[in-house]
Amino acid sequence: MTATAIRPNKAAETLPDEIKVSELHKYHGRQLRNIVVSYQIGEPKWRNTAQKDKLIEKLTEHFPGGVIQVPKAGEIMPGKKMVKTKVAETAAAVKAEPPLPGLLLPKSDETFVFSTNTRAYVSALGRMAKNGEDVMNTLLAGPQGCGKTSVAYEFAARMNMPLLKMNCPMVREPRDWFGAKMAAEGRVYWDKALFAEGVARGNVVVLLDEITRATPQVLNTLLPLLDWTRETYVEEAKELLKVGPNTFFFATANIGAQFTGTFKLDSALADRFGAIVECAFLPDVEEAGLLVKRSGISEDVAKRMVKVATLVRAENQNTGRLTETVSTRTLLEVARLYSAMQEKAFHFTVLPKFSADGGKQSERAQVVGFIQGQFPGFTLN
Ligand SMILES: Nc1ncnc2c1ncn2[C@@H]1O[C@H](COP(=O)(O)OP(=O)(O)OP(=O)(O)O)[C@@H](O)[C@H]1O
Ligand SMILES: [Mg+2]
Repeated sequence: MTATAIRPNKAAETLPDEIKVSELHKYHGRQLRNIVVSYQIGEPKWRNTAQKDKLIEKLTEHFPGGVIQVPKAGEIMPGKKMVKTKVAETAAAVKAEPPLPGLLLPKSDETFVFSTNTRAYVSALGRMAKNGEDVMNTLLAGPQGCGKTSVAYEFAARMNMPLLKMNCPMVREPRDWFGAKMAAEGRVYWDKALFAEGVARGNVVVLLDEITRATPQVLNTLLPLLDWTRETYVEEAKELLKVGPNTFFFATANIGAQFTGTFKLDSALADRFGAIVECAFLPDVEEAGLLVKRSGISEDVAKRMVKVATLVRAENQNTGRLTETVSTRTLLEVARLYSAMQEKAFHFTVLPKFSADGGKQSERAQVVGFIQGQFPGFTLN
């Protein structure tokens, strides 16, 4: 993975007079000497000490060393949700943190289609973050190839945030999350893992991809980080790892009996994902539209392809007569190949997934029937 810049150079920016609470993170690390909070929020929930303390905590976190003047409880005025800052020496702005190698900066994919539910959820999550509210951890669950991983990429892209992707099947030991002791030139030092570093810095979307393919032992070490404490003590490093501000945890999982080689998501872990988004294949019209946009095939052909997939999915999900399915990922490959070889594309994409054992009674024969129903010219030769 290549190094990617995660923040613009703060020293080059002019600081505004007023900063929204939800945008404090954008100014993270600036050396504000004198921070005057002149407005508090009109909503009743902010008119209490706990909320005020929370605001001070936020300000301290973002502007370490700044002197913060906040109105006393009785002086809290209804008003805009703003923090007014007075900056004694803007020139003292600290240098931006160096970029963290290994983080991705996803670009939004214009062809990506959110299902109605998923769109509603990710928009709400984005709004909560913008309002400075604590956000929940998100589990994206659903069949293979329906766009779960892509949702996390899209969310990061649309939030303009870097993405820290952890490929969970590759995480074998707790050190892959946290780091390891290393020795060089006679000295022992702690080599912090990318995950720990990214999580501690914050302003990041953390994707725990294919979480059910990591062992429960390895996942257990994440439990404290994912609960309300948002911190864990790393014994080997003698260090408290705290989740940084604006850290969004997403996990993806294929949950269901057909996913062999996966572990059941431990209930303690599942419980730490406050929101579970049940992902599914797109509705027919939208999936066909996606095929057209990505491959340039005609709408008619795309619709017929989706019909084949829908029939296979029903047999897979409802009756279990087919042991495999046809994902959006596979359909996209069919569509791409179709432009070059028309319906022969099914031979190299869909059919090899289905066993030919049993001749005319085989799973493959059943799928051939579905294809021929939509593409009458399709033959096995
Ligand atoms: N709703 C969608 N809109 C656009 N593209 C999609 C959508 N769903 C799936 N795709 C495409 O299908 C492919 C697979 O998507 P992705 O890898 O996100 O699926 P997944 O659910 O994470 O699969 P797996 O369970 O195998 O990890 C990608 O090329 C992605 O762009
Ligand atoms: Mg995936």
